Amino acid sequence: MDGRDDDVQVSLRPVALADLDLFRTWWADSEADRLDSGVVREGPRGEFLDRIGRLLLAGGLPSWRVIDVAGVGPVGYILHRGLDPWTGSVELAIRLGREHWDRGYGTAATRLFTDYLFEEIGAERAWLEVVETNGRARRMYRKAGFIEAARCPGDRDRPAIVVMEAERRE
Ligand SMILES: CC(C)(COP(=O)(O)OP(=O)(O)OC[C@H]1O[C@@H](n2cnc3c(N)ncnc32)[C@H](O)[C@@H]1OP(=O)(O)O)[C@@H](O)C(=O)NCCC(=O)NCCS
Repeated sequence: MDGRDDDVQVSLRPVALADLDLFRTWWADSEADRLDSGVVREGPRGEFLDRIGRLLLAGGLPSWRVIDVAGVGPVGYILHRGLDPWTGSVELAIRLGREHWDRGYGTAATRLFTDYLFEEIGAERAWLEVVETNGRARRMYRKAGFIEAARCPGDRDRPAIVVMEAERRE
């Protein structure tokens, strides 16, 4: 999967075992966790990383892609959580290493991945949830063709969430 967003040359490739250390650094960013979910979680523990490693050795994680930028290298990952055959919908998620934010990589990768979801796995709708206060992510998804479809109010324990979606065009 290759694509160009302005001057940004981004491609998506399968995850390799050698990427695990990078995933560890991407998952260790508590500011990204806060933006992502509204709360700071404990970083992934050894057993989780071990499981990811075993899955990779067994050829697993087919729905995950590493985001590569020409001249830069791997900057983050994007994934989907499985196509729902009843609705044709698929949820996606993305994270970039913090030093790579605000350079257009997220927009380019999300466009490429949604094209893949629509054209290759047969999705009719791609969706995701974003914390309402995550202005950067909401802006990025809008640039990548998503619209804000619903808002779920927060409460004492959870932040308000915006559901964003893109539909396949004929
Ligand atoms: C969210 C994320 C994937 C976006 O990727 P990215 O490469 O940084 O995004 P882009 O550079 O393509 O686009 C970001 C846009 O938001 C803008 N922006 C930055 N901070 C902003 C803010 N606080 N409010 C509104 N817009 C903001 C940027 O200026 C840019 O818009 P522009 O191109 O019109 O100037 C990445 O920043 C990331 O991994 N963040 C941490 C985890 C996260 O939030 N994940 C998403 C969970 S749903």
